[in-house]
Amino acid sequence: MEMRSPKGTRDMLPADSAAWQWIEQTMREEAALAGYREIRTPVFEHTELFLRGVGDTTDIVQKEMYTFLDKGGRSVTLKPEGTAGAVRALIEHKLYAEPLPVKMYYLNNPIFRYENPQHGRLREHHQFGMECFGALEPSADAEVISSIIVILGRLGLKNLAVKINSIGCPVCRPDYHRALREFLSENFDKLCPQCKERFERNPLRILDCKEESCQRLTANAPSILEHLCMECDTHFYGLQALLNAQGIGFQVDARIVRGLDYYTKTVFEVIMNSPRGPIALCGGGRYDGLVEEIGGPKLPGVGFGIGTERILLELQNQGIKPPEPRVCDVFVASLGMESRLPAFRFCMDMRKEGMKSECDHMARSLKAQFRFADKLGVRFIVLIGGEELNRGAVKIKDMVTGGENEVLLIEAIETISRSLVQRF
Ligand code: HAM
Repeated sequence: MEMRSPKGTRDMLPADSAAWQWIEQTMREEAALAGYREIRTPVFEHTELFLRGVGDTTDIVQKEMYTFLDKGGRSVTLKPEGTAGAVRALIEHKLYAEPLPVKMYYLNNPIFRYENPQHGRLREHHQFGMECFGALEPSADAEVISSIIVILGRLGLKNLAVKINSIGCPVCRPDYHRALREFLSENFDKLCPQCKERFERNPLRILDCKEESCQRLTANAPSILEHLCMECDTHFYGLQALLNAQGIGFQVDARIVRGLDYYTKTVFEVIMNSPRGPIALCGGGRYDGLVEEIGGPKLPGVGFGIGTERILLELQNQGIKPPEPRVCDVFVASLGMESRLPAFRFCMDMRKEGMKSECDHMARSLKAQFRFADKLGVRFIVLIGGEELNRGAVKIKDMVTGGENEVLLIEAIETISRSLVQRF
């Protein structure tokens, strides 16, 4: 049997690594500029965390979790999202005792969802996320939105739509749920089986149903924005004022409700137009009750998650290539057996000086070594051996100008290092 990676997983090959690392670098820099520090949490957690955190009415918990009993009979689950683990760590290590807000980010967190793999949808994907704990002010919401917009802008991505909404809080949402149930009650029988279940437990999620019939039934549903309490309303307008002040274009979309139960007030998505229709590139929002729900103090939170694979897809759609770093600066070619040892040493010495260098490990002929060096795209070839080596010298070939010159072995590193700095 031919071995293939499991359905819905994707290898990150060396050829993709330049793009991957460019994305990571950009995220790290922006997160640091906003005072966020990295957190890494385990790939699996107690299942209970996600039942309580993500919510047992969500698709993720009902259908998509990789849950199993370990050999000790405990139920564990591979992370289906990044926020719950970050909150668990915040509580366990009492990070909230630090001056607030506590800001953290995770980078390429592996996330597992048993979904039907299709364009842009994987069973294992990787998320970058920023989470800010302890701040109620809408400026914290605006900060995380602003950070991701700057990151996407630095990567050169265009034509992305930012959609925001407020889904209220435990004070005003019950009022909206009542209005929504009332609106839908006449057509209850026409709802899909899952929405029938949602009707009692979480009617807001009906607005997010992918079934066409449910979408038609909710087309003229009342808007949550008309049912917000004063506090949520003021918060939402505060956020819009901040985004406007930052020149961040956005649309208010009362149908953005998100697929996780923990959100309160702000929710947002960044949407990309893939050739097969719009899909979310990034999603996030405020979750003021989650820390308490998981057993911590009353502490608000706001953040987002973005899938690295979807960023790569969108870079590809928009024809954007990452800056390709040179794989190797200098190839140290050796002529004959006696020059292999000095060539190896020279190569190692170059690395100590911070230059990417390679030597021959394949016992290639000199001609074949030159061909290989050319394929690597090196800037210089240093030729060690023959008459020159007897004189304590080497030949340096500049692959851009084609020029060649002879220098003393002891001066060669200095000479190359100077040229590399000057020309790049
Ligand atoms: P989410 O919307 O479920 O939110 O996922 C965030 C992002 O992860 C999506 O916008 C998408 O880029 C990517 N993503 C999700 N599912 C898949 C998939 N099956 N294949 C590929 N990429 C995918 C959350 O997970 C929340 N924890 C975000 C958050 C953080 N909210 C507050 N803080």
